[in-house]
Amino acid sequence: MRSTVPRLSRYLTDADLMASLASDVRHGLSQMPKALPPKYFYDARGSELFERITRLPEYYPTRAEHAILTAYADDIARRAGADTLLELGSGSSTKTRLLLDGMRATGRLHGYVPVDVSESALRGALEALLRDYPGVRMHGVVADFERHLHLLPTEGSRLVAFLGGTIGNFPPEPRARFLAALRANLHDGDRLLLGTDLVKDPHRLVLAYDDSARVTADFNRNVLRVINQSLDGDFMPEAFEHVAIWDPHQEWIEMRLRSATDQSARINGLDLVVDFAAGEEMRTEISAKFRPDGVEKELAAAGLTLEAWWTDPPGDFALSLSRPA
Ligand code: SAH
Ligand code: TRP
Repeated sequence: MRSTVPRLSRYLTDADLMASLASDVRHGLSQMPKALPPKYFYDARGSELFERITRLPEYYPTRAEHAILTAYADDIARRAGADTLLELGSGSSTKTRLLLDGMRATGRLHGYVPVDVSESALRGALEALLRDYPGVRMHGVVADFERHLHLLPTEGSRLVAFLGGTIGNFPPEPRARFLAALRANLHDGDRLLLGTDLVKDPHRLVLAYDDSARVTADFNRNVLRVINQSLDGDFMPEAFEHVAIWDPHQEWIEMRLRSATDQSARINGLDLVVDFAAGEEMRTEISAKFRPDGVEKELAAAGLTLEAWWTDPPGDFALSLSRPA
């Protein structure tokens, strides 16, 4: 009988996540200027808010990447020649369906391995996919792609997808380390499909991260709710304003939370009280934007050879296919 219960492996327990949240928050809030670690946006509520972001008129990256996959998924699948799709930071796996369809058209699609820190997103995605792709082996993995790459399933000849421009959420040095670690875990014949958002008019970039419906603002403040819930904090999310700024030198969007007033927050789980001055800003996330030659250089530095490159018609977003050099 075919199983309708998704197979799920957990390399990241709630206790692990809590321990790293505690140490990252303590560290970030003792820095000057203060910073909050980015990977904790995605609890169940955060994952839902991100899905709303992907549908905002201002947030073009999801639609642009979707357009590229609609046009070229067959080409990508043919070039990759893989039987297994392993996806890092898969979220709702919505665009992934285009890739799965492309791979199915090659007649070789055997398995799909979505990897995400958000167990709720993973479960939601797998339930729908199991229904729509009977016969494809699905194996979800709750893991931190910064720590658990070496534990991921290695069966088959693999296409590893990292979509959504999530690579841009790493600062440059961690990004180089991540790409090198990813390369080290690829076998001969495996391929990497990487989604990168491209440098463009700063005005459009800022609007994509500061939408008029204020969904991104809510998403940014969600990290405070996560701290309140997980570490028994008393942050007032409404007392922090969402800020999105284009940094023309680093070529990244920087997200911050700005304290609206003089205030303090108590985090009982860390036995910590933190003071904020009115107007004080803390960094919560960056989203780097890329140029084609920069992507090729970063891949090469990690030991990956660029094989193919696709963009949407206006050139807003790119997908690159690379293989171990
Ligand atoms: N790929 C989807 C989702 C992008 S949002 C898309 O393109 O729309 C980024 C996703 O990466 C979220 O689902 C988030 O939960 C996940 N994520 C963020 N940091 C992670 C980490 N360190 N390890 C694993 N998953 C992570
Ligand atoms: N990877 C997405 C991006 O950089 C994540 C994202 C979209 C995001 N909007 C955000 C992260 C707002 C933090 C805050 O586009």
